[in-house]
Amino acid sequence: MSNLKKYESEIKSRIGEKRFLHTLRVAETAVELAEIHGIDSEKAKIAGLLHDCAKIKDINLLKLEAKKYDLLLTQDMMRAPQIIHSHLGAILANRLYGIDDEDILNAIAYHTTGRPNMSGLEKIIFLADYIEPKRNFPGVERARELARVNLDKAMYFALNNTLKFLVEEDNFIATETVHARNFYWEMNN
Ligand SMILES: [Fe+2]
Ligand SMILES: [Fe+2]
Repeated sequence: MSNLKKYESEIKSRIGEKRFLHTLRVAETAVELAEIHGIDSEKAKIAGLLHDCAKIKDINLLKLEAKKYDLLLTQDMMRAPQIIHSHLGAILANRLYGIDDEDILNAIAYHTTGRPNMSGLEKIIFLADYIEPKRNFPGVERARELARVNLDKAMYFALNNTLKFLVEEDNFIATETVHARNFYWEMNN
Protein backbone atom coordinates (compact mmCIF):
# COMPACT_ATOMS: atom_id res chain seq x y z
CA MET A 1 0.00 0.00 0.00
CA SER A 2 2.72 2.43 0.87
CA ASN A 3 4.88 1.73 -2.13
CA LEU A 4 5.20 5.45 -2.70
CA LYS A 5 8.94 5.37 -3.45
CA LYS A 6 8.28 5.37 -7.17
CA TYR A 7 6.37 8.66 -6.92
CA GLU A 8 9.04 10.43 -4.90
CA SER A 9 10.72 12.29 -7.75
CA GLU A 10 7.40 13.29 -9.28
CA ILE A 11 6.20 14.75 -5.97
CA LYS A 12 9.58 16.39 -5.35
CA SER A 13 9.49 18.12 -8.71
CA ARG A 14 5.96 19.36 -8.06
CA ILE A 15 6.51 20.76 -4.56
CA GLY A 16 10.26 21.29 -4.32
CA GLU A 17 12.99 19.68 -2.22
CA LYS A 18 12.35 21.74 0.93
CA ARG A 19 8.64 20.98 1.06
CA PHE A 20 9.37 17.34 0.29
CA LEU A 21 11.69 17.10 3.30
CA HIS A 22 8.90 18.62 5.39
CA THR A 23 6.58 15.79 4.29
CA LEU A 24 9.16 13.23 5.48
CA ARG A 25 9.24 14.92 8.91
CA VAL A 26 5.44 15.04 9.04
CA ALA A 27 5.25 11.32 8.16
CA GLU A 28 7.71 10.50 10.93
CA THR A 29 5.88 12.62 13.49
CA ALA A 30 2.54 11.15 12.39
CA VAL A 31 3.86 7.60 12.89
CA GLU A 32 5.04 8.51 16.41
CA LEU A 33 1.63 9.94 17.29
CA ALA A 34 -0.13 6.96 15.72
CA GLU A 35 1.88 4.56 17.88
CA ILE A 36 1.12 6.55 21.04
CA HIS A 37 -2.61 6.73 20.34
CA GLY A 38 -3.19 3.27 18.85
CA ILE A 39 -3.93 4.45 15.33
CA ASP A 40 -2.84 2.62 12.15
CA SER A 41 0.76 3.80 11.71
CA GLU A 42 0.96 2.63 8.08
CA LYS A 43 -1.93 4.93 7.19
CA ALA A 44 -0.32 7.71 9.22
CA LYS A 45 2.89 7.31 7.22
CA ILE A 46 1.13 7.37 3.85
CA ALA A 47 -1.05 10.37 4.77
CA GLY A 48 1.98 12.20 6.15
CA LEU A 49 4.03 11.57 3.02
CA LEU A 50 1.21 12.70 0.72
CA HIS A 51 -0.42 15.51 2.72
CA ASP A 52 1.40 18.25 0.79
CA CYS A 53 1.73 16.42 -2.55
CA ALA A 54 -0.24 19.22 -4.28
CA LYS A 55 1.49 22.14 -2.55
CA ILE A 56 2.40 24.02 -5.71
CA LYS A 57 3.95 27.35 -4.76
CA ASP A 58 2.66 29.40 -7.68
CA ILE A 59 -0.99 30.17 -6.92
CA ASN A 60 -1.94 30.48 -10.59
CA LEU A 61 -0.40 27.10 -11.38
CA LEU A 62 -2.15 25.65 -8.35
CA LYS A 63 -5.50 26.95 -9.58
CA LEU A 64 -4.84 25.59 -13.07
CA GLU A 65 -4.06 22.19 -11.60
CA ALA A 66 -7.26 22.35 -9.54
CA LYS A 67 -9.19 23.04 -12.71
CA LYS A 68 -7.51 20.16 -14.50
CA TYR A 69 -8.79 17.80 -11.80
CA ASP A 70 -12.29 19.37 -11.69
CA LEU A 71 -11.85 20.65 -8.15
CA LEU A 72 -14.50 23.33 -7.71
CA LEU A 73 -13.02 26.32 -5.95
CA THR A 74 -15.15 27.42 -3.01
CA GLN A 75 -15.44 31.04 -1.81
CA ASP A 76 -13.07 30.16 1.00
CA MET A 77 -10.53 28.71 -1.44
CA MET A 78 -10.71 31.85 -3.55
CA ARG A 79 -9.98 33.97 -0.49
CA ALA A 80 -7.42 31.68 1.09
CA PRO A 81 -5.81 29.75 -1.79
CA GLN A 82 -3.61 27.69 0.56
CA ILE A 83 -6.74 25.66 1.32
CA ILE A 84 -6.71 24.40 -2.29
CA HIS A 85 -3.58 22.26 -1.91
CA SER A 86 -5.15 20.05 0.74
CA HIS A 87 -8.25 19.19 -1.26
CA LEU A 88 -6.29 18.89 -4.48
CA GLY A 89 -3.79 16.73 -2.59
CA ALA A 90 -6.53 14.24 -1.73
CA ILE A 91 -7.52 14.10 -5.40
CA LEU A 92 -3.93 13.52 -6.58
CA ALA A 93 -3.36 10.91 -3.86
CA ASN A 94 -6.38 9.06 -5.21
CA ARG A 95 -5.96 9.47 -8.94
CA LEU A 96 -2.18 9.50 -9.31
CA TYR A 97 -0.95 7.54 -6.32
CA GLY A 98 -3.63 4.88 -5.99
CA ILE A 99 -4.84 5.72 -2.48
CA ASP A 100 -8.49 4.79 -2.02
CA ASP A 101 -8.71 4.73 1.76
CA GLU A 102 -11.30 7.40 2.69
CA ASP A 103 -9.68 8.13 6.03
CA ILE A 104 -6.29 8.82 4.44
CA LEU A 105 -7.90 10.99 1.75
CA ASN A 106 -9.84 12.97 4.37
CA ALA A 107 -6.72 13.41 6.50
CA ILE A 108 -5.04 14.99 3.46
CA ALA A 109 -8.09 17.06 2.50
CA TYR A 110 -8.57 18.61 5.96
CA HIS A 111 -4.99 19.04 7.12
CA THR A 112 -5.07 22.82 6.57
CA THR A 113 -8.48 23.88 7.88
CA GLY A 114 -9.38 21.05 10.20
CA ARG A 115 -13.08 20.25 10.55
CA PRO A 116 -15.49 19.20 13.29
CA ASN A 117 -15.40 15.64 14.59
CA MET A 118 -12.14 14.57 12.95
CA SER A 119 -11.03 10.93 12.93
CA GLY A 120 -7.93 9.91 14.87
CA LEU A 121 -5.92 9.82 11.65
CA GLU A 122 -7.18 13.26 10.56
CA LYS A 123 -6.15 14.75 13.92
CA ILE A 124 -2.75 13.09 13.77
CA ILE A 125 -1.95 14.51 10.34
CA PHE A 126 -3.22 17.98 11.25
CA LEU A 127 -1.10 17.95 14.40
CA ALA A 128 2.00 16.34 12.87
CA ASP A 129 1.99 19.11 10.28
CA TYR A 130 1.71 21.62 13.11
CA ILE A 131 4.45 20.26 15.37
CA GLU A 132 6.99 18.52 13.10
CA PRO A 133 10.52 19.02 14.47
CA LYS A 134 11.39 22.07 12.37
CA ARG A 135 8.28 24.03 13.37
CA ASN A 136 9.18 26.93 15.59
CA PHE A 137 6.55 29.32 16.89
CA PRO A 138 5.23 30.44 20.27
CA GLY A 139 3.27 27.54 21.72
CA VAL A 140 4.80 24.75 19.65
CA GLU A 141 6.26 23.03 22.74
CA ARG A 142 2.87 23.05 24.46
CA ALA A 143 1.29 21.67 21.26
CA ARG A 144 3.91 18.87 21.17
CA GLU A 145 3.17 17.92 24.79
CA LEU A 146 -0.59 17.94 24.29
CA ALA A 147 -0.39 15.91 21.05
CA ARG A 148 1.25 13.08 22.99
CA VAL A 149 -1.29 13.15 25.79
CA ASN A 150 -4.67 14.03 24.29
CA LEU A 151 -5.45 14.60 20.61
CA ASP A 152 -8.68 16.55 21.25
CA LYS A 153 -6.98 18.92 23.68
CA ALA A 154 -4.12 19.34 21.21
CA MET A 155 -6.60 20.12 18.40
CA TYR A 156 -8.31 22.73 20.54
CA PHE A 157 -4.98 24.32 21.41
CA ALA A 158 -3.72 24.26 17.80
CA LEU A 159 -6.94 25.66 16.33
CA ASN A 160 -7.13 28.43 18.93
CA ASN A 161 -3.51 29.33 18.34
CA THR A 162 -4.01 29.33 14.56
CA LEU A 163 -7.07 31.56 14.82
CA LYS A 164 -5.25 34.02 17.07
CA PHE A 165 -2.43 34.16 14.56
CA LEU A 166 -4.79 34.66 11.59
CA VAL A 167 -6.56 37.51 13.38
CA GLU A 168 -3.28 39.15 14.35
CA GLU A 169 -2.08 38.92 10.75
CA ASP A 170 -5.41 40.30 9.57
CA ASN A 171 -5.96 37.22 7.39
CA PHE A 172 -9.10 35.58 6.07
CA ILE A 173 -10.38 32.73 8.25
CA ALA A 174 -11.87 29.63 6.63
CA THR A 175 -15.34 28.83 7.97
CA GLU A 176 -14.32 25.17 8.38
CA THR A 177 -11.61 26.26 10.82
CA VAL A 178 -14.13 28.21 12.91
CA HIS A 179 -16.47 25.21 12.94
CA ALA A 180 -13.60 22.94 13.92
CA ARG A 181 -12.51 25.29 16.71
CA ASN A 182 -16.03 25.50 18.13
CA PHE A 183 -16.40 21.72 17.97
CA TYR A 184 -13.22 21.24 20.01
CA TRP A 185 -14.20 24.13 22.30
CA GLU A 186 -17.37 22.20 23.20
CA MET A 187 -15.35 19.06 23.67
CA ASN A 188 -12.85 20.69 25.98
CA ASN A 189 -15.11 22.96 28.01
FE1 LIG B 1 -0.16 21.64 3.70
FE1 LIG C 1 2.52 20.42 5.50
